[in-house]
Amino acid sequence: MGKIQTSSDDQSRISNEKSPETDLDLILTRRGFLKSTASLGASAFVSATSLNINSALAEDQRRPIFKPVSASTADRVLIPEGYEYSILARWGDPIYSNTPEFDSESRGSASSQATSVGDNNDGMDTFSVGSRTILVFNNEFTNLDILFGNRTNQLPETDDDVDKGKFAHGLTIVEIKETTRGWEIVKDSQFNKRITPNTEISVVGPAAGSELLKTKNDPLGMKILGTFNNCGNGKTPWGTYLACEENINGYFSSSLGEKFTQNFYEQRYGIAKNGKDWGYNWAQTDARFDVSTEPNEPNRHGWIVEIDPMGQKEPKKLTALGRFKHENAELVTTPSGQVVVYMGDDERGEFLYKFVSHNRYRTQGTNTNLLHEGQLYAAKFYDDGSGEWISLSNANMSRDETLVYARIAASQVGATTMDRPEWVAVNPNKPEAYVSLTNNKYRGEKSSQPINMANPRKHNKYGHILRWTPENGDHAAKHFNWDIFVLAGNPYEHSDLDGGSWNINVNNMFNSPDGLRFDSEGNLWIQTDGDYSNEDEFVGMGNNQMLMGDPKTANIYRFLVGPKECEISGLTWSPDKKTMFVGIQHPGQKGGSNWPDGGNNIPRSAIIAIKRKDGRAIG
Ligand code: FEO
Ligand code: CA
Ligand code: CA
Repeated sequence: MGKIQTSSDDQSRISNEKSPETDLDLILTRRGFLKSTASLGASAFVSATSLNINSALAEDQRRPIFKPVSASTADRVLIPEGYEYSILARWGDPIYSNTPEFDSESRGSASSQATSVGDNNDGMDTFSVGSRTILVFNNEFTNLDILFGNRTNQLPETDDDVDKGKFAHGLTIVEIKETTRGWEIVKDSQFNKRITPNTEISVVGPAAGSELLKTKNDPLGMKILGTFNNCGNGKTPWGTYLACEENINGYFSSSLGEKFTQNFYEQRYGIAKNGKDWGYNWAQTDARFDVSTEPNEPNRHGWIVEIDPMGQKEPKKLTALGRFKHENAELVTTPSGQVVVYMGDDERGEFLYKFVSHNRYRTQGTNTNLLHEGQLYAAKFYDDGSGEWISLSNANMSRDETLVYARIAASQVGATTMDRPEWVAVNPNKPEAYVSLTNNKYRGEKSSQPINMANPRKHNKYGHILRWTPENGDHAAKHFNWDIFVLAGNPYEHSDLDGGSWNINVNNMFNSPDGLRFDSEGNLWIQTDGDYSNEDEFVGMGNNQMLMGDPKTANIYRFLVGPKECEISGLTWSPDKKTMFVGIQHPGQKGGSNWPDGGNNIPRSAIIAIKRKDGRAIG
């Protein structure tokens, strides 16, 4: 397919000259993804799409399929008939028998939090050791008004408060087992462990030892304390877990206060804006979070961290994969054995990346250094449905700078600014990958973020999922072809593009796709982190939810609705696939939920274990 070689400026001129909806008609109808104008009327839409669901259910007899659930604003988890769930782990649940049970009055202390499940669970995965199961999950951040709800200003007051907040971050590693009461944490298991913002982590890859990573406490730039704001995750074929550091900027402040001015690099990464952090106040007990004292400390975060779930090897920050606001890390091995890692940078107008390993995966090998050396690329999307990966080595920067300031390198090489790239998922049944582009109020507003075919809607309120097929079926290839799997939207409210693509209807509408994961049968699970107001532009969508997309037909069915004010984040399975673990993050973010314990209990993020009542596998 021919390519239109255009700069960003050219793209914006093209977009201005033609109606983007006309262009989009061409690119989406060619692939059969845009509903016809006639079907955009609300009533035609309802009946046509109801038929659509019924016929898809009837046609697809090859696998058990659930009866989709309705949208809901209730403060509970809603799943289809024939399924049940139990709570596996809540924020503050002790992982050792000598740690006190969670106390909702005090909401714990630094020491109890350091030995209990962290807050706001996100990406997760299971690992098997013989017949034992280990669950590793990220604890992305904490809601200050809940964690410090016992304090007048709902902010940390004492040093112990600050450290409690710190230890609510990082990761939780626990052995889990299924009992007659459902899945539970095995307290005191040899595998149980918290990884926190104070855990020692080694630095590997080309930027290890870089001047940009050196600090007073680490003059060699080889040992970093801690990981935090881990969002999505990845899993390697050699049995390690990847934790992806996202909004690390919110933890740094400056002792200069408002007199602090960000340099070019701090600005691009949002470090200590106006000299302030986001209320965590870590600099109170740990001077490295004061950027005026330790200007390189932010450079030591925003990486992907490789973790051995068995605890045998020290965690490692993987500098070859670049520093940005990492969402997840989706690994796939190419036909020649190279390992490709797809990665999103979740910020408005940032980029989609991929890493291609220099060395090859060997089934019998140790493979542990495969993510230490390789090429890093950012994606360029052309309006004709083609695309290419551009190497960041083309940027006019040193190798260290290219990795530490990957965003700046990707801008230099002319990658396409995207609508907040969140999770990437690779189809296990065919060479194609999907990315959630969650939403972007700046699209078509900022000159650096013009409307284009890959990001086709002004102000993108609802988000979309884009997919691509690499040339020759090889994920290491330079070129690819792409299309849009779904434009989320609200057909109640809109009869234009904001009504969504043909596969969105009043029965399955949602906004802000975020978590994406394929199950072993090739179903694409979609988790949302969006507007749960259920009003105006979002009326009819209810609380955040999880849906299943069929990559063959592009039909999408709602499987789960979360409690009030949560997002759905993180998804994995038991080794026998009979249980699906789903993350419910920050219920009651605005004070409106008592989930999961009900009554007057404070809300707590939790992981639930979903099973089919007939005991069959669930993906
Ligand atoms: Fe942590 Fe982009 O979500
Ligand atoms: Ca997310
Ligand atoms: Ca999100």
